[in-house]
Amino acid sequence: MSDAVLAETPVFSVNGLWKVFGPKADRIPADPELTALDPADLRARTGCTAAVRDVSFDVRKGEVFVVMGLSGSGKSTLVRCLTRLIEPTAGTIAIDGEDVRAMDKPRLRELRRHRAAMVFQHFGLLPHRTVLDNVAYGLEIQGMGKAERRARAAEVVAKVGLDGMEQRRPSQLSGGQRQRVGLARALAVDPEVLLFDEPFSALDPLIRRDMQEEVVRLHREEGRTMVFITHDLSEALKLGDRIALMRDGKVVQLGTPEEIVGSPADDYVREFVRDVPREQVLTVRTAMRTPSDGDAVTGPAVAPDATVSEAIEAVARSGEPARVVDEGRCVGVVDADGLLGVVAGTAKEAV
Ligand SMILES: Nc1ncnc2c1ncn2[C@@H]1O[C@H](COP(=O)(O)OP(=O)(O)OP(=O)(O)O)[C@@H](O)[C@H]1O
Ligand SMILES: [Mg+2]
Repeated sequence: MSDAVLAETPVFSVNGLWKVFGPKADRIPADPELTALDPADLRARTGCTAAVRDVSFDVRKGEVFVVMGLSGSGKSTLVRCLTRLIEPTAGTIAIDGEDVRAMDKPRLRELRRHRAAMVFQHFGLLPHRTVLDNVAYGLEIQGMGKAERRARAAEVVAKVGLDGMEQRRPSQLSGGQRQRVGLARALAVDPEVLLFDEPFSALDPLIRRDMQEEVVRLHREEGRTMVFITHDLSEALKLGDRIALMRDGKVVQLGTPEEIVGSPADDYVREFVRDVPREQVLTVRTAMRTPSDGDAVTGPAVAPDATVSEAIEAVARSGEPARVVDEGRCVGVVDADGLLGVVAGTAKEAV
């Protein structure tokens, strides 16, 4: 990523965010004695649940930012705080540099209708409306005229692969098709950022994979910023540019899939990613060594962000170590031993 992109204002910037449910919740974030308690003790002492605890992160323009964690870890609360569907207890949230906590009602409405559209797990479709009118719903709320919104909706319906189904009602669709309608409805308002709260967890595995590919495709084609919540590790690894892993309301690690799998921050994360096929996530950067004079220059070339699994194929096919080539320059060499070391988990934990 270029410096120019890194320097851009993040879409969301979250700092020291807390959400505490329960009586006199406001006092908790400011009281070090209470914040030091673990969740069960805090509940016993105060009757409060700290669903989000001192969370900070940026969502960069154009990235898929995944929030992952087990049930109850605070994912939905966190994403709902972003547009104040849930009121935060403490901390700051900015969208494009604008203070979300300072927004008045009309501004908040505008935020939710135009700038950050949400796709829910249970679709949230209107049962008596056709597919087309469900998709046009957000535009209708915005006050767009009928002909114009139907034309726009038809475009988006086609984009998510539902052409021909415009006149059906939700009950006449499969689960996967319904979720496509939910996705189309969010896309129709052309939001700056899409927020997904476990949108695919009610779908069966094959349809789920289809929908994941749909999200990857949309992201690739449109470069739209997405915040994607899931409790499914393989989904997180597949979709995320970066992943925030939550536990008991805290972010325990924030990094690329490769960083999370290759350098887990603590035993909890290590346990979480234990069964991940490392060779499919880690890149040859982890496995390569500096080229030396004795290295042949005849081996196959692989890119630095090729996966270890891809390099294994190249090395196995050619019978020679592979050269890691970045912009025409050989930056490293990977051989069978180095690659095996990654698969076995004996390679250095370093990314
Ligand atoms: N309105 C509420 N009042 C009290 N506690 C709540 C409320 N909403 C959520 N919680 C608690 O906050 C914690 C985080 O809940 P949240 O729904 O954010 O978790 P999650 O990670 O989205 O879980 P899941 O994967 O099951 O959807 C849980 O302990 C939950 O019981
Ligand atoms: Mg949830």
